[in-house]
Amino acid sequence: MIINRLIVKNWRNFQHIDVPLRERQFIVGPNASGKSNLLDIFRFLRDIAKAEGGGLQKAISDRGGVSNIRCLSAGQDPEVAIEIHIADTPDAPVTWRYGIGFRQEPREHCQTHLTYERVWREDELLLDRPDADDNEDPDRLTQTALEQNAANAKFREIGRFLRNVTYLHLVPQLIRFRDAIQGKVIEDDPFGQGFLEHVASVHPSTRRARLKRIERALKIVVPQFEELAFIRDKRTGHPHLQARYSHWQFNEEWQREDQFSDGTLRLIGLLWALFENDSLILLEEPELSLNIGIVSKLAPLFARIPRIHQCQVFVSTHSSTLLTEPCIDGIEVLLLTPAKAGTSVKVSSDIKDIRILLENGFTVGEVVLSRTRPKDTAGVSLIQ
Ligand SMILES: Nc1ncnc2c1ncn2[C@@H]1O[C@H](COP(=O)(O)OP(=O)(O)OP(=O)(O)O)[C@@H](O)[C@H]1O
Ligand SMILES: [Mg+2]
Repeated sequence: MIINRLIVKNWRNFQHIDVPLRERQFIVGPNASGKSNLLDIFRFLRDIAKAEGGGLQKAISDRGGVSNIRCLSAGQDPEVAIEIHIADTPDAPVTWRYGIGFRQEPREHCQTHLTYERVWREDELLLDRPDADDNEDPDRLTQTALEQNAANAKFREIGRFLRNVTYLHLVPQLIRFRDAIQGKVIEDDPFGQGFLEHVASVHPSTRRARLKRIERALKIVVPQFEELAFIRDKRTGHPHLQARYSHWQFNEEWQREDQFSDGTLRLIGLLWALFENDSLILLEEPELSLNIGIVSKLAPLFARIPRIHQCQVFVSTHSSTLLTEPCIDGIEVLLLTPAKAGTSVKVSSDIKDIRILLENGFTVGEVVLSRTRPKDTAGVSLIQ
């Protein structure tokens, strides 16, 4: 299953979005244009679908309340709304549609109420709230049907799919210094702080197979890299990754993850996430810390993984190298363009000038990213 269309009203810096989505989708735009905000829509849907320790109220309060989420250019309209269409492939008929609207109730302290919640299976409307029960007891509108097992028997598949959405913005220092930091791991661990514990929790044969695949990739991209292994420290019991490099004199010497380079750690985390998931994977700037030779291999990898695992990959990026692959179609790139009334989101090949250049053999890296550069930067220093 994949999400093949997103429709949004008043989310963060977007007043309106209505875009089709492919299995591999790149999101490009200047700094602060809303790339992370766009990815956060799918994390929000994951959060509201959690029956335990989640739900609508928590998803909203984790983001600082409706006042933070609602677009500042929304004017008098108090409602934020999201709709997704789910299908087997990008061009297949829509199997599921899920939509919600919500607002902060003026009278209730910090309570968010649904303005509607609707679910369709193909053309059949399975849920249409507010219903008679909601009208009788408006407090019911503080919860979505998605987060209540008793209310979502007919469309549990949507909740299962959304709960598996994964977001990754791996911060190598958090893996390397996790013992020293000993801080609280943020829910769903977006920054990879609990990555090693997670690797430890996977069944040993699955773990071995996955690490072997990662080892094969690292051998290609990291000079002298030979072997990757999982171990537990005999004294502390803590899980570790260790690597052996061929240039060392003694083969028995291994380096642990606290000595890996940033790029090695980010690549391990990235590949692990891609091999593990069969839902939607959200990747923030996967090019960070990676050599351009490796970055140029990421786009083909993001195309291949959905074919093997039936998943979907959304990637925010600033990298023209990542987007130089000639096979990237303009339809796979969303261009974010900030304006006074909010950022617009367009499929890049729907923009005539871009489409003409792509048809004439230019790559999206050459054509689309030039549109995201700040104006008038030539010859201007950042420090005046
Ligand atoms: N409710 C809101 N209404 C309008 N704008 C908002 C709202 N919430 C956040 N923003 C704006 O969104 C912008 C940040 O967006 P985001 O972090 O998604 O950008 P980005 O494209 O990921 O940037 P970068 O490339 O630097 O990571 C900020 O400028 C912030 O002011
Ligand atoms: Mg960002």
